[in-house]
Amino acid sequence: MLVLGIETSCDETAVGIVEDRFTLRANVIASQVELHAPYGGVVPEVAARAHLEALLPTIDHALVEAGCGLSDMDAIAVTSGPGLIGALLVGVSAAKGLALAHDKPLIGVNHLRAHVEVAQLEFGELQPPLAALVVSGGHTSIVALEKVGSGGESGDDGRFRQLGATIDDAAGEAFDKIARFIGLGYPGGPEIDRLARQGDPKAIDFPRAMLHEPGYDMSLSGLKTAVIRYLRRLEAAGTEPDLADVAASFQEAIVDVQVVKTLRAARDEGLERVVLAGGVAANTRLRARFAEACEREGLGLVVPSIPLCTDNGAMVAASGANLLAAGTLADLELGVDPNLPLAG
Ligand code: KG4
Ligand code: ZN
Repeated sequence: MLVLGIETSCDETAVGIVEDRFTLRANVIASQVELHAPYGGVVPEVAARAHLEALLPTIDHALVEAGCGLSDMDAIAVTSGPGLIGALLVGVSAAKGLALAHDKPLIGVNHLRAHVEVAQLEFGELQPPLAALVVSGGHTSIVALEKVGSGGESGDDGRFRQLGATIDDAAGEAFDKIARFIGLGYPGGPEIDRLARQGDPKAIDFPRAMLHEPGYDMSLSGLKTAVIRYLRRLEAAGTEPDLADVAASFQEAIVDVQVVKTLRAARDEGLERVVLAGGVAANTRLRARFAEACEREGLGLVVPSIPLCTDNGAMVAASGANLLAAGTLADLELGVDPNLPLAG
């Protein structure tokens, strides 16, 4: 069973091909990073136009990589939300065209669930009960996955139950905003990650909002404000900040909150392992701290390799393959939902 997955929800035009739900046959990404870098962030119109130009060549490239043709596919899967509306529309329109032209089933994929389900390509079937931390540019939440199986009848398979989420900024958004403020490039997460390696994570005691409040929600916008205030204070005093220390201390505060809240959720809910998902799961410090904490608490830890954490087509193909196996198909009425939630 071969599924082609198309991802155009943000700034990567990406296509993956997955065989029999677990085997990755192709994963090709046409990155738009250089197009958006001069603006310091993703420009939605630029993204949509770039997807339009890159999508068909990227599909061809993936088919060559997998050594097969569109006629060999059993379904065409596409991210239908959440994401930028114009960017999503490019992918969904193309997927509809391909499904119609080649008489293949069409599958609408939830980008956030796909971030979690991509782990099956490296670790096999996800083993519930587990907690997944989904940390990306637009989203930060902790969900529980309790039932075995793949997909469901309605498309909202009910396997994911939301336990907590940020009440304001997403973790990736905080990384990107602080990176921009201190003059690092876009996207900011990897830049902070790199700079932080030369800094002391204990140098500055930035706030960890809601850390000791019960529950699994978190707040990251106060942290961002605290970093900006700290830098302005130093500037007013004519003191040069140690930016590596700032990056390391800021990153440590974000990571602390993610580790404490996720492990608390796993413990309280009797979940046996933790899955890290989404672009921020590429963060070196986050990965290391979760490895330590899960080991200490006797929890399993599932961390996809870095190229499968940041946006990619393989995740859409993997999630699409699960939905195909469950018989959850879309039709040509498939729309896009820029605000599609992870758990219904
Ligand atoms: O999942 P993703 O690729 O796209 C969305 O669905 O949003 O996540 C992108 C986010 C960006 O905010 C980027 O700065 C962040 O993930 N990111 C990182 C790292 N790599 C990517 N954040 C921290 N450390 C990293 N190494
Ligand atoms: Zn993403």
